[in-house]
Amino acid sequence: LDVLRNSRKSIGLVPTLGALHHGHGSLFERARAGCDVVVVSIFVNPLQFGPNEDYLRYPRSLDQDAALCAEKGVDFIFAPETTEMYPETSFTFVDVTRLDQHLCGAHRPGHFRGVATVVLKLLNIVQPDRAYFGEKDYQQFSIIRRMVHDLDLRSEIVAVPTVRESDGLAASSRNAYLSAEQRKAASVLFQALEAARRLVEAGERQPSKAVAAVRRILDNEPEIRVQYVEVVDPVEVQPVAVIDGPVRIAGAVHIGNTRLIDNVAAAPKS
Ligand code: PAF
Repeated sequence: LDVLRNSRKSIGLVPTLGALHHGHGSLFERARAGCDVVVVSIFVNPLQFGPNEDYLRYPRSLDQDAALCAEKGVDFIFAPETTEMYPETSFTFVDVTRLDQHLCGAHRPGHFRGVATVVLKLLNIVQPDRAYFGEKDYQQFSIIRRMVHDLDLRSEIVAVPTVRESDGLAASSRNAYLSAEQRKAASVLFQALEAARRLVEAGERQPSKAVAAVRRILDNEPEIRVQYVEVVDPVEVQPVAVIDGPVRIAGAVHIGNTRLIDNVAAAPKS
């Protein structure tokens, strides 16, 4: 990459956990359109999984992943072994405080420390001009953007809109865990968030009312157990007292053993 960098080629990085799907495909397309050289990292980062989470069963499919990368014109795949990324015990971690307090941060202790730490390592290894993140993981995107700002990193962080299936379900590697029945129920998460978005656009200013609307719809679906529904500001990801500007309405649910997240942007019409 240094050779390319020295000949003034711009470098784009798409960090992934692998198990690539068309959501990743749209990140690759954005990187391809915006940069001379596209690098995809594929690494199931143990640091960001909790002790009872799906690190061991997380789908790994390097051959298929490489095929999708080739199809999308990706130039390089960086797929390190765990021992290459973490050759010995690390004593250094990145905590982006405050932004990790709510949504997933409240339910997955240590998760965003693991994400921020590995992303900083990947940014240092690849030194991209731009790095691309999906808006489905909105809190992750916000935390990375803030880390880059606070630590004066030189990569630009680009957010890419969530890719959805035809019924609205956000594309995710974890959708592969769902049975046919669960898969049907899963689309209710987006439908519920959309109902709240419409309420906000119709003039609802109370976050509690928007949250209640989402929960009512989710509670009607017997397959779904709600973990959280929150209305937060789009920069520091804090709950808002009143909806008087752009917000993110975000939710996490369990369907069987599978945890799914999603979020939508909403803003009062002025
Ligand atoms: O969103 C993901 O796939 C991961 O959290 C990331 C950004 C690749 C870090 O491991």
